[in-house]
Amino acid sequence: MTKKDILDALALADPAPLLAEADRVRREYVGDAVHLRGLIEFSNICARDCLYCGIRCSNRTVTRYRMDVNEIFEAAQAAAQLGYKTLVLQSGENDRYPLIELCLLLRRIKAELGIAITLSLGEKTREEYAALREAGADRYLLRFETSSEELFRQLKPDAVRGARMQCLAWLREAGFQVGSGIMVGLPGQTPEILAEDILLMKMLDLDMIGIGPFIADPRTPLGGASSGTLERTLRVVALLRILTKNTHIPATTAMGSIEKGGREKALRCGANVLMPNVTPTRYREHYQLYPGKICINDQPGDCRSCVAGMLRSLGRTIATDAGHSLKR
Ligand code: SAM
Ligand code: FES
Repeated sequence: MTKKDILDALALADPAPLLAEADRVRREYVGDAVHLRGLIEFSNICARDCLYCGIRCSNRTVTRYRMDVNEIFEAAQAAAQLGYKTLVLQSGENDRYPLIELCLLLRRIKAELGIAITLSLGEKTREEYAALREAGADRYLLRFETSSEELFRQLKPDAVRGARMQCLAWLREAGFQVGSGIMVGLPGQTPEILAEDILLMKMLDLDMIGIGPFIADPRTPLGGASSGTLERTLRVVALLRILTKNTHIPATTAMGSIEKGGREKALRCGANVLMPNVTPTRYREHYQLYPGKICINDQPGDCRSCVAGMLRSLGRTIATDAGHSLKR
């Protein structure tokens, strides 16, 4: 598929055949079983100031929290009891969580719960990634956000695009299964940039691809911008499934937040993963990257039964294995 083919697909008057083809490719390459990853948002402390993000450091209206290791372990234990085979630990960037504590926690989760661990902690040093991997983390999610140097500079003024790409290489080197991705509909994202994003995700040969619509947050400098659309996001999911075949692609929370039923639609055009929230309910309202986030008042068990019902209604099953990469 060339850049022109991608641009044509993004502009199709009727995307239904594209979405149906992606659903067919998904069934052929990854099957009907959906992998569930229990997500713990363990800290909203962030040193970065990304223009789009609700928990950016300049947002003084956010109540900051950092769960301690025992609380994280208890949440992990609850997730394992609910049947999750993978735990995703996410936080703001450079929240100064002591590396040694994180590594001890990872070892404890592995030893006592035996489940797969995905991290999403942002940019770290090569040595830190190696230590986290050594302590037992299996996977790491780090979206490159946009392939455009200029857009990256505008939206992440205190970060460097090359450094983030370097992190992806270090993660590979450390032996992680690597996920990356973008937001669809960022202000200034042209169809050409989006097509380049898609080609870059393909080129990186990712184990996991996480994308979602950009949702404008009034508490950020981009509060007045237009949000992305579910419609365009679904086309991107479909294109990525067709292009990359057996990558794990989640129906993300942002898809379900921008439109009711958004995650269900994504599961029908290429997605094969869901990441239900298992963060203790009292912290959820403080981890809002954008307004309208779903499940803020739910308990971990509620989210679990909600997605089980969703999958039943779609005729899909819940995967019983850890759902490691299908690539290597
Ligand atoms: N701090 C880590 C990092 O930067 O990789 C992980 C957490 S970060 C908040 C997770 C993802 O949320 C980002 O990669 C970004 O794509 C997404 N995100 C942030 N603000 C958003 C918004 N307003 N709308 C949609 N997605 C957003
Ligand atoms: Fe936290 Fe961007 S504001 S990673």
